[in-house]
Amino acid sequence: MMLRRADKNDIDRIAEMEKICFPEEPWSRDMVAAEFSGLNPSRYYIAEEDGEILAYAGIWLLPPEGYITNVAVHPQERRRGLGSQILQKLIDEGLAEGVTDVTLEVRVSNAPAIALYKSFGFEEAGVRPHYYQDKEDALIMWLHQ
Ligand SMILES: CC(C)(COP(=O)(O)OP(=O)(O)OC[C@H]1O[C@@H](n2cnc3c(N)ncnc32)[C@H](O)[C@@H]1OP(=O)(O)O)[C@@H](O)C(=O)NCCC(=O)NCCS
Repeated sequence: MMLRRADKNDIDRIAEMEKICFPEEPWSRDMVAAEFSGLNPSRYYIAEEDGEILAYAGIWLLPPEGYITNVAVHPQERRRGLGSQILQKLIDEGLAEGVTDVTLEVRVSNAPAIALYKSFGFEEAGVRPHYYQDKEDALIMWLHQ
């Protein structure tokens, strides 16, 4: 498995992963492409093996704050530590850029993701009511380093 920075050539495959990993509300290809347009302060990483994307994740670097946009692991590759590895990469790269406080939103029902974030020390900091299209609330989490 190789963990590397993603670039424009990965847009199509990341968009495919969006549909697989977030079937209820995937980002469109245009939304993924916007992250690589240079307009957003975003940085993405992918874990790949034999040319297949196993996981990807992204962060907006706004020192001293970082905003994690997405962490996604292919369903067949979960519970093998990939989510932790790629999240650690985002945090390390953020720290290198002066990001000491990291935030994200996660569906209140998303127990696997909430457990992952808590294992990194993220704490619950509030709720955004009806944040998602299906009206589910988002939990706001912060990691202060
Ligand atoms: C959340 C997600 C990224 C976790 O990826 P992963 O590679 O399976 O995570 P890891 O194997 O690194 O797990 C790290 C820790 O997270 C927690 N965790 C992960 N999946 C879990 C689950 N299904 N149930 C409970 N805890 C879980 C555990 O504490 C785990 O440590 P452990 O395996 O030693 O018990 C993955 O389930 C996923 O892609 N989900 C769909 C997309 C998504 O919801 N992303 C988050 C959007 S905010």
